[in-house]
Amino acid sequence: MTIEKNREGYPTLLDKFAAFYSRYVYRRIRDCWNYPICSVPGKDVVLKERYTPDNGWTFKYTGKEVKCINLASYNYLGFAESTGPCAEFAIESIYKYGVSNGATRIQYGTCEMHKELESLLTEFLGVEDAITFGMGYATNSLNIPTLIGPGCLVISDEKNHASIIVGIRVTGAVIKVFKHNNVKHLEELLQENIISGQPNQPDGQYKPWRKIFIIVEGVYSMEGSVVRLPEIIALKKKYKAYLYLDEAHCIGAMGRHGKGVIDYFDCDPKDVDIQMGTFTKSFGSAGGYIAGSKDLISYLREHSYASCHAWAMPPPVAAQIIAVLKILMGRDGTEEGRKRIDALARNTRYFRRRLRQIGVIIHGNDDSPVVPILVYLYSKIVITVRTLIENKIVTVGVGYPATPLYEGRIRICLSAAHTKEQLDYALEVIEKVADEAGLKHSRRPRDPRPVEYDDI
Ligand SMILES: Cc1ncc(COP(=O)(O)O)c(C=O)c1O
Repeated sequence: MTIEKNREGYPTLLDKFAAFYSRYVYRRIRDCWNYPICSVPGKDVVLKERYTPDNGWTFKYTGKEVKCINLASYNYLGFAESTGPCAEFAIESIYKYGVSNGATRIQYGTCEMHKELESLLTEFLGVEDAITFGMGYATNSLNIPTLIGPGCLVISDEKNHASIIVGIRVTGAVIKVFKHNNVKHLEELLQENIISGQPNQPDGQYKPWRKIFIIVEGVYSMEGSVVRLPEIIALKKKYKAYLYLDEAHCIGAMGRHGKGVIDYFDCDPKDVDIQMGTFTKSFGSAGGYIAGSKDLISYLREHSYASCHAWAMPPPVAAQIIAVLKILMGRDGTEEGRKRIDALARNTRYFRRRLRQIGVIIHGNDDSPVVPILVYLYSKIVITVRTLIENKIVTVGVGYPATPLYEGRIRICLSAAHTKEQLDYALEVIEKVADEAGLKHSRRPRDPRPVEYDDI
């Protein structure tokens, strides 16, 4: 961590508040973040033990490695694995293709792996076509400006991910933000803006929007909430707006077949104009996709900044996703995919119900594998994360600026790979911390009946 010393004649490079904040707040509690790991982030993860001799300015390694229960990774289906069929297929692909194709997709970067991946994905999602990209973040930030431009109206959920926000900011479109998952507010914004049309027209003339887009996520990773998809689809049809849905946290993790929120609500995939998702979470890989109509995808193949001007997805990364998709689709001839989808759903419901019994406040939908426990204060994030690590459990502390100052939380991500014993141990420790740190804020009546894991 460096202290900025201004060069003479230069304005301050780092924003003053950020510098103050990192030095006097974040520096003292830095041990709660950026923990180096030295294993695959599966149901367990191995931390490289470290300590700070100078209150967080620097860290030194002790040379020890500590195995912890991993409640921190978005490893929803447990496919973050260094052994097994997916890892083997990824390794095999390196022997054939190397680790990079050395070009963009439209040059010489498209190989058999990309073709197979896109065709499997198209079938899995029940769409006409799909295109994949090397990075999830770029899938949003570079494809949104490919589709949206000046004269368009974007109505975006206030909790949308940074990659969406960056993407819409460069479009030149007018951006309106609606309250999180608030369909009434979304409709008000649609009505107001359709009535007013494009702003700043000569002589106050009415000019309709070129296109209107509603942009939402399936599951929100800081809230654990699930988009109110059926109602939003109804609105998009009523007002003839296009719907862009980011399923980064629900593809694989939600729905009876693991096909995301569209599957969860049993909606028609055709009603979502642009389906976006990433492979970093449920697939234990990297990259992103956009799926939809043939026309949309062929337009993106020719025009997308993320495809035409960025390296193709590396073959072993594609191979891992192909192997996972085959398992989810039962093409491996086993029930493994089904079992993992069911295990995640069971772990999620069990853990959430038990947390409610403890009396902590949790946000989000009962079926959402992202579970934020509200602790509110920064000091409580710190005591919770530290105590959990001492007890060999890793979670993610989330505070300002990722949340409002007094809405700090501990984010837990459940996985199909977690065992009941692991979850019970974690719940026991969380209850102890909740007593010590005063986290039992919930006023909801607690259901005293035992929660039976196998009946869920
Ligand atoms: C909703 C959402 N969209 C997009 C991304 C970016 O994806 P990636 O991390 O795979 O680059 C993330 C990342 O976590 C995300 O949460």
